[in-house]
Amino acid sequence: MLESWFPLGGRGNTQTLFNDDTIASIATSHGKTSAQIILRWHLQAGNIAIPGSSNEAHIAENYAIFDFALSDEEMAELTAIDRDERFADY
Ligand SMILES: NC(=O)c1ccc[n+]([C@@H]2O[C@H](COP(=O)([O-])OP(=O)(O)OC[C@H]3O[C@@H](n4cnc5c(N)ncnc54)[C@H](OP(=O)(O)O)[C@@H]3O)[C@@H](O)[C@H]2O)c1
Repeated sequence: MLESWFPLGGRGNTQTLFNDDTIASIATSHGKTSAQIILRWHLQAGNIAIPGSSNEAHIAENYAIFDFALSDEEMAELTAIDRDERFADY
């Protein structure tokens, strides 16, 4: 079981992921946000992801990922984004 630290890229890095063309395009097609697509990808991949937020609307948004599903093709597209890069070095 994988524990996903900084699932949204961590503070100061979120826009890199949110503006990724693949993530943003899949988000638009589902009427969801990039954050929700990232969290749904983790959920369907079987990862434990705990996003951090101090914004009430963001917290609600991050819970609203149980009313849609990514297709196998979308899951594969999102998995293929992996660039073997780290946002933090802990
Ligand atoms: N066990 C460990 O050693 C360890 C190590 C690293 C991290 N963690 C934990 O992992 C959790 C996540 O870490 P993190 O908060 O640094 O990283 P993160 O969840 O990847 O990113 C948090 C950032 O995303 C923003 N955000 C969250 N939801 C959003 C949404 N729906 N739309 C737009 N922006 C959104 C937050 O801003 P807003 O506040 O404005 O929403 C914040 O800037 C934390 O609980 C942290 O303590 C634990």
